Amino acid sequence: MKQDIERVLFSEREISETVHRLGEQISADYAGKNLLLVSVLKGAVVFMTDLMRAITIPCVIDFMAVSSYSGTKSRGEVQILKDLGMSLKGYDVLIVEDILDSGRTLHYLMGVLGQREPNSIRICTLFDKPEARVEDVVADYVGMNVPNEFIVGYGLDYNEKYRNLPFIGILKPEVYGG
Ligand code: IMP
Ligand code: MG
Repeated sequence: MKQDIERVLFSEREISETVHRLGEQISADYAGKNLLLVSVLKGAVVFMTDLMRAITIPCVIDFMAVSSYSGTKSRGEVQILKDLGMSLKGYDVLIVEDILDSGRTLHYLMGVLGQREPNSIRICTLFDKPEARVEDVVADYVGMNVPNEFIVGYGLDYNEKYRNLPFIGILKPEVYGG
């Protein structure tokens, strides 16, 4: 698996420091609120499990699955594959995403979840690719900006592979080609 990686963009340690910084910020901002973390499967699950443990205030969690990607190119359509198991009424919802790319997924989710009467709704994304934006979405919490390249690891996949790499890497071009 590691032989498919051209270079490491963020080490395990850099990711961990970023997640802890976000956890501290969120804990301070949501103190006294009714925090619900909504994670987007599958890519954000690794980030979610680390972030929730870096948050020091009470919170509840739920998961949903959406799909807008196939390979390395966005198909441009968003589909709910698995919906949330709970009502958002009365909750301060924080959507936990792995990466904000074209913005289609989060634009869609903000629309759908925003209609379910949460107290508030905001976005926390570990990675942001501002150059790739198609929809006008701004995240409230951003871990790190990344260049407009396809990255894998720490939950992020290429055709479902590489999610279990503990670091963030850029794939060798021949991996795409083949
Ligand atoms: P968006 O709807 O284009 O913003 O894409 C968001 C989703 O596409 C993310 O949740 C990821 O699952 C996937 N994605 C976008 N860029 C990358 C990447 O560089 N590597 C792996 N997955 C990505
Ligand atoms: Mg994802």
